[in-house]
Amino acid sequence: MSRVALVTGGSRGIGAAISVALKNAGYTVAANYAGNDEAAANFTAETGIKTYKWNVADYEASKAGIAQVEADLGPVDIVVANAGITRDAPFHKMTPEQWHQVIDTNLTGVFNTVHPVWSGMRDRKFGRVVVISSINGQKGQFGQVNYAATKAGDLGIVKSLAQEGARFGITANAICPGYIATEMVMAVPEKVRESIIAQIPTGRLGEPEEIARCVAFLVADDAAFVNGSTISANGGQFFV
Ligand code: CAA
Repeated sequence: MSRVALVTGGSRGIGAAISVALKNAGYTVAANYAGNDEAAANFTAETGIKTYKWNVADYEASKAGIAQVEADLGPVDIVVANAGITRDAPFHKMTPEQWHQVIDTNLTGVFNTVHPVWSGMRDRKFGRVVVISSINGQKGQFGQVNYAATKAGDLGIVKSLAQEGARFGITANAICPGYIATEMVMAVPEKVRESIIAQIPTGRLGEPEEIARCVAFLVADDAAFVNGSTISANGGQFFV
């Protein structure tokens, strides 16, 4: 039986590319999504990948959603915490609401996604956790105090999980995408986006599939010795 992979935010953007890459690699994939029913229905029609609706910011909803995935498809061995949002504003204009929305989804959302599957991974002595962080968690970004805090936090989560999971056959790793051609980046004002592209030595935005390729590497059974690492995929924009 193929391993079951759960991808949060898995029906659009980078998450959709990850879901498809994992399906093509032979995994049984469940793609979570939060709100866009139409995009999710189209995604399932195009790919045959089942979608599941819940808000990763809500622990009880995550627990119930994951229980449904496991009832339908079997125990989740691979979890890709990809769901994320931006609420960009310079710090002096950032509202507490913008702060909390991003923290709840991008940071607490990782806890809510991994915690319900963690005991099962420990029991079965196998697990793969991949958290999609960001270049902006590594370097910070003007207008993203909230987002950068969550993405830096993601790195702390995986480095800790890597230590806790190792003796149970569980690995936890992070990927830090740079600027990828998704709706999220296209929402950045054009002038700002152009100035960002000018800082990317590769001279272009990344493609979602270029991040999905990193995920497929990390979740493989024979990637067991890669644990607690961060893969940067940013076209050379920033070196750690
Ligand atoms: N560095 C220095 N100064 C900057 C700046 C920068 N990067 N960006 C803007 N400024 C300046 C402006 O020129 C302006 O200066 P003046 O007042 O002297 O004209 C000042 O800062 C702020 O301008 P505003 O008060 O008008 O700011 P705003 O309310 O319009 O907000 C912003 C600006 C929302 C931060 C906008 O610049 C923006 O969206 N920036 C992009 C942030 C970004 O990169 N987001 C990434 C989204 S994609 C993603 O998150 C995926 C991923 O993981 C990579």
